[in-house]
Amino acid sequence: MSRLKTPRPFLKWAGGKTQLVKQLLKRTPDSFKNYYEPFVGGGAFFFALYREGKISKATISDLNSELIKTYIAIRDQVEDVIKVLSDYPHDKKFFLDKRKELPENLDPPKLAARMIYLNKTCYNGLYRVNRQGQFNAPFGSYKNPKICDTDNLRAVSEALQKVKIKQASFEDVLKLAKKNDLVYFDPPYEPLSKTANFTSYQPDGFKQKAQEDLQKLCHKLSRKNVQFMLSNSSAELIKELYCDNGFFVDEVKAIRAINSNPKRRGKLTELIVTNYEWES
Ligand SMILES: C[S@@+](CC[C@H](N)C(=O)[O-])C[C@H]1O[C@@H](n2cnc3c(N)ncnc32)[C@H](O)[C@@H]1O
Repeated sequence: MSRLKTPRPFLKWAGGKTQLVKQLLKRTPDSFKNYYEPFVGGGAFFFALYREGKISKATISDLNSELIKTYIAIRDQVEDVIKVLSDYPHDKKFFLDKRKELPENLDPPKLAARMIYLNKTCYNGLYRVNRQGQFNAPFGSYKNPKICDTDNLRAVSEALQKVKIKQASFEDVLKLAKKNDLVYFDPPYEPLSKTANFTSYQPDGFKQKAQEDLQKLCHKLSRKNVQFMLSNSSAELIKELYCDNGFFVDEVKAIRAINSNPKRRGKLTELIVTNYEWES
C-alpha cells in the first residue's frame, strides 16, 4: 500500500518537523475549519495532516520566495517539473553550473527542478544561502541520491491542488484566520546558546524581536478564538514568552544535531505550545 506513505516532504529542510509529527498530531484538535501554516518550510506536518485526512481547506506560506515558487510549480506544472528534473545527472560540474544560475531568470518548472536538484545533491541536503541570498552549499557526498522521486512529486501535487500557497511573512495570518481555524507555527528556532545561531534560511535571520512579535500575534489569535499550535526550542527567551502567559506548554524530546557537526546528535528538549487544552 505505498499510496499511504505519500505525500512526503520533497525537500530536506533545516528544522524539518518529521521527528515531532507524532507529538504534533496528538495535540491536533479533532476538527477545525481552515488550516494555516505560515512557516511551512519542507511541510512535514502539513503532509502528515493531509495523510491523516485532516485537511479540507489550507493556506501554506513562507518568506522564502524560491521555496514558494517551487511549491506552486509542483502544484500547477508537476509533469513539466518531472520532465526537467529527470534529465539532471548526479555530477559535480553540473551541480556547480546549476548553483550559479539565478532562480529569477528561470521559468517555474526549471526553478523548481533546480531547487530540488540542489537540495538532493548538496552537502548534508540542506538549503543554505549567503548574505546575498544565493544558494551556497557545496556538492554533497551521496552515492546515489534519488533526484527525481516521481511518485512523491505527483502525490505532493495532488495534495496541493486546493491549497493556497503564498510568499508572505507570518504576520499575514492574523488578517486571514477566523474563529475555529487552526494555525501551526514552526518559526526558526531560538538558539539555545549564543554560538549555536543557525539562522540561514533567510539572509537576515530571525531575531529576538521577531520571536516577541510572534508571541504577541499568538495572544491576538487567542482573542479571535483561533486555535494555534507552535513548536520552538526550549531557550530561555521562549520559556519566558510562553510559560505562565495563558498558554499550554509541553516539553518533548527530539533528536537533533547538537553542534555544527551534523553527525553529532543528541536528544534535546523542545517546546510545543497551544492555546487550547488537549487530551493525552
Ligand atoms: C523551522 S523552519 C520550518 C520547518 C518546517 N516546519 C518543516 O517541517 O520543514 C522555519 C521556516 O520559516 C521561514 N521564515 C523565516 N522568517 C520568516 C518570516 N518572517 N515569515 C514567514 N516565514 C519565515 C524560513 O524560510 C523557514 O522555512
